[in-house]
Amino acid sequence: MRKKIVAGNWKMNKTIDEAMELAVKLQEESSSFPKNVEVVVAPPALYLATIEMIEDLGFSLSAQNCSHHDFGAFTGETSPAMLKAMNVKYSILGHSERRQYFHETDAIVASKVDACLRNKVQPIFCCGEVLEERKAGKHFDTVKSQVENALFHLTKEEFAKVVIAYEPVWAIGTGVTASNDEAQEMHAFIRATVEGKYGKEIADAVIILYGGSVNATNSAELFACPDVDGGLVGGASLKANDFMTIIKSAGQA
Ligand code: PGA
Repeated sequence: MRKKIVAGNWKMNKTIDEAMELAVKLQEESSSFPKNVEVVVAPPALYLATIEMIEDLGFSLSAQNCSHHDFGAFTGETSPAMLKAMNVKYSILGHSERRQYFHETDAIVASKVDACLRNKVQPIFCCGEVLEERKAGKHFDTVKSQVENALFHLTKEEFAKVVIAYEPVWAIGTGVTASNDEAQEMHAFIRATVEGKYGKEIADAVIILYGGSVNATNSAELFACPDVDGGLVGGASLKANDFMTIIKSAGQA
């Protein structure tokens, strides 16, 4: 049985006071998180160190992005070596906003995957098609090539550390969620693609999250799909009550 992961991607939101209020609320509720669900929070990088100092945090921390270098003259960047040293377990990589606004290519994402693994930070690798690609029936090709280009150079042992997040770009922040069938179909396709490269055991074990307008109302149904192992949640992770409802729904799925 794969565990479920519910990850909150706060993006570039909240002042430090607001961020701490939400982090402390989640810490206080953490004893009621379902045992089969790993809760992950990805605050702005600036707040990771402060949140990490909360005692008995009860959830894992993730960066939203990181450099593909370990150290050096790279002004403004955050290194996976620094993340590891601060007990940050994951980094989101290849989010569609990074691809769109910061021109991250599959090759750049692949080198970030390598940098994270080299430093023992687990990638939460994002893939997903834009609306035009889905309309043209090219969504499977797009996702397959994103997965292949960024991940398929990894060894089995390396790949086993990667979490995949399928995030159709047309569903991110739009309030339009993929239907349960659309999500399940793509997740099963990704798992089959992984099986083709790494075999059944690795494919059965890989955690594939759904992201794109997950909210407290639709999460239970999405997470009940057999190949959907939880969610990467943006907007709804900014409100403690909604995020708690989503976490609890993953426990029942
Ligand atoms: P959303 O964002 O839940 O606000 O659609 C998801 C994401 O971008 O990870």
